[in-house]
Amino acid sequence: MGAYLRNNVFMFSLMFFAMIGLLNAQVADIKAICGKAKNQSFCTNYMKFNPKTSGADLPTLAKMTFDSAQTSASGALTNIQSLAKKETNPALKKGYTSCEEQYKNSVSNLNEAKQNLASRDGPGLNIKVSAAMEGATTCQDSFANLKADPSVAKNNSDFQNICGIVLVISNMM
Ligand SMILES: *[C@@H]1O[C@H](CO)[C@@H](O)[C@H](O)[C@H]1NC(C)=O
Ligand SMILES: *[C@@H]1O[C@H](CO)[C@@H](O)[C@H](O)[C@H]1NC(C)=O
Repeated sequence: MGAYLRNNVFMFSLMFFAMIGLLNAQVADIKAICGKAKNQSFCTNYMKFNPKTSGADLPTLAKMTFDSAQTSASGALTNIQSLAKKETNPALKKGYTSCEEQYKNSVSNLNEAKQNLASRDGPGLNIKVSAAMEGATTCQDSFANLKADPSVAKNNSDFQNICGIVLVISNMM
């Protein structure tokens, strides 16, 4: 009888932990995520070009897209810094320099957001990523009547589109 009971307790625990495991490993609904994204086709393309997104759970997807946002911000910053350095037109140089400041803020906002991501704090992540996105908007605005290098607009929209995916995920966390 004792062995029987122990066996039952053992089986029950096994099932219990298997269920917890299943709940934790729920595959994220990529269609639903991209359906809510700022740029749906960008989102769909992103998922397609990153095969590891397929079958991933929400925390994994949050980490992947967040890492991409960080890479995108620092890549944009590098590009804009080099444009600022070689620009001779004072108005444009001023625009690039102010953009550079914006992206430095975005990079530091994202660095802070890492903690929100680690503690699965969706609302906190949302606030910091939104703030980082603002940087790209302000950057774009600093060229209102100027002909900036087209790569800047591309950097800005790519960055905002990747952040847009992180925002949708943060609302599901
Ligand atoms: C949306 O994403 C597509 C595909 O990546 C891109 O071609 C398009 O320019 C993007 N639109 C905006 C408004 O960012
Ligand atoms: C920014 O634009 C430059 C030039 O098009 C490109 O080489 C770089 O990859 C872009 N970086 C990001 C992160 O969008």
